[in-house]
Amino acid sequence: MTPESPQLLNPPPDLGINLPPPRHIAIIMDGNGRWAAQRGLPRVTGHENGAQALRAVTETCCALGVQCLTVYAFSTENWKRPAEEVSALFGLLELFLASELPTLLANNIRLRAIGRLHELPPSALSALESTIAHTATNTGMSLVLAINYSGRAELEDAVRSVCKEVAQGTLRPEDFTQEDLQRNLYTRDWPDPDLLIRTSGEMRLSNFLLWQLSYTELYVTPKCWPDFGKEDLVEAIRDFHRRKRRFGGI
Ligand code: IPE
Ligand code: IPE
Ligand code: MG
Repeated sequence: MTPESPQLLNPPPDLGINLPPPRHIAIIMDGNGRWAAQRGLPRVTGHENGAQALRAVTETCCALGVQCLTVYAFSTENWKRPAEEVSALFGLLELFLASELPTLLANNIRLRAIGRLHELPPSALSALESTIAHTATNTGMSLVLAINYSGRAELEDAVRSVCKEVAQGTLRPEDFTQEDLQRNLYTRDWPDPDLLIRTSGEMRLSNFLLWQLSYTELYVTPKCWPDFGKEDLVEAIRDFHRRKRRFGGI
């Protein structure tokens, strides 16, 4: 997709879903490396194909009327990977932001990011900030990129902010509630995810949205992320609609 050719999304003809979509979908986009290895390709090719999958899933979520899509793109633990892979990932992020901006604008999608963004390579950070600014007045779906994100780091940052309020005398320790923590989370602007999808079969959270996933429905598929398409998303949503959410009730 070039910046000259924005795509205006129309509702897809028939996704076979008549029920309202989950308001907030979160995705752990995992398995790019294995997808590439299975094909004898370099890991970075897996990440490139993963970026294409993100575009298709974003379009489908938008067309379905999902309000918020949060995707795990890079964890604080992913710095442990070889420097070349890390640098390729941030290069790809910049390419993705440049190529997707017209589509984000044409479809009223607001880009946001969560994580310790100040630790990003400067050029990736500036591309990210620029795309966030360009889409800031969009009122449709929020696409939230979790980059240099960790659930524990988010809680650490939120608790630090609460401690500052106490130190400044604007919050008394005896008045502290979970709402005070909640309004200091990176995700304070969105409801908790209704559905979490993880690709590539791993049954773990890998430090993603630890607070917010308390009552989220979990969906794990063995497919690697680059193979996850529109039909897979629709199947995950159908499965979500078969769940009985009780939130501790009966
Ligand atoms: C997910 O795919 C992308 C990132 C974590 C950046 P992986 O790179 O983790 O792929 P696998 O898990 O090694 O197959
Ligand atoms: C989780 O995947 C992080 C992202 C998808 C960005 P990982 O591949 O880093 O997770 P682990 O290491 O298998 O738990
Ligand atoms: Mg992985």
